[in-house]
Amino acid sequence: MEIDRKTFLDSLGGPEAASRMDSEARADALESHMMAELNRAKTGDPAWDQTKPEKYPTAAEVEAQIETRKYREGVGFMYVPRTGENVRRLPPMPPNPTLLDFFKLRFMETSNHVLQSANLAMKNGMTEDIILACLLHDVVQEIIRTDHGWWGAQLFEPYVPEKVSFAIRYHQALRYYPDPSVGYEYPDLYRQLFGSDYVPPPYIEATYQMVRKHPWYMDARLVTVNDLYAFDPNAVVSIEPFIDIIGRRFKQPIEGLGNDGSPVAHMWRTIARPDQPL
Ligand SMILES: [Fe+2]
Ligand SMILES: [Fe+2]
Repeated sequence: MEIDRKTFLDSLGGPEAASRMDSEARADALESHMMAELNRAKTGDPAWDQTKPEKYPTAAEVEAQIETRKYREGVGFMYVPRTGENVRRLPPMPPNPTLLDFFKLRFMETSNHVLQSANLAMKNGMTEDIILACLLHDVVQEIIRTDHGWWGAQLFEPYVPEKVSFAIRYHQALRYYPDPSVGYEYPDLYRQLFGSDYVPPPYIEATYQMVRKHPWYMDARLVTVNDLYAFDPNAVVSIEPFIDIIGRRFKQPIEGLGNDGSPVAHMWRTIARPDQPL
């Protein structure tokens, strides 16, 4: 399908979110806004404007929402369902779990979004490293969302090329900074999530300045570019097209993720057994 980049960007403020709106407690309004925009793109329905939020909250208003919740926003999706429902019993993991097993049995809330990102990266002719980075860039949000770029890079670092973990680590900070050279704009979603007058903290700004000058800047930037386009909450992308890339680029430990004694094995065990009290 041909997509006019400018029209598309104009019509979608926060495409990353659209693919996981179900999980965002306070994003109901935004979800319908996104869906309406999506429908408008399909149908040309002029009514969509009415669903746009009249104004985005301020950072202070976002702050005030904290005590309206039973949980903190940083907690991972698999630990606290944003629907308010009870958690479900999870299917057992095989004894030597692979990355694919985690995709099929544990990354329930994030896999649709990352598969769409990786699919777009593949369509756009990205390198295997970028495609893999897109495929992995947000899955750590199953356990923790705060600073998910750093957590995610750490989770994958022992198993992927350095450039892939670099791109995963820094996509988070780059999301706050536009890059017109590749058509990346500040997402409307962030106006909703952080407040219209939000200023990223100094460590994010410093990270951005460092990455901006780094020779691998574009690797991290291209994750945000393909992230932005991964928007359709109804599209279902299979993991199948990525199995060969995973085979070539991801060092699957024979003992299984979590059993391999790597510095991050405990993180994999935490994802595998989230009902473990200690
Ligand atoms: Fe992300
Ligand atoms: Fe993302």
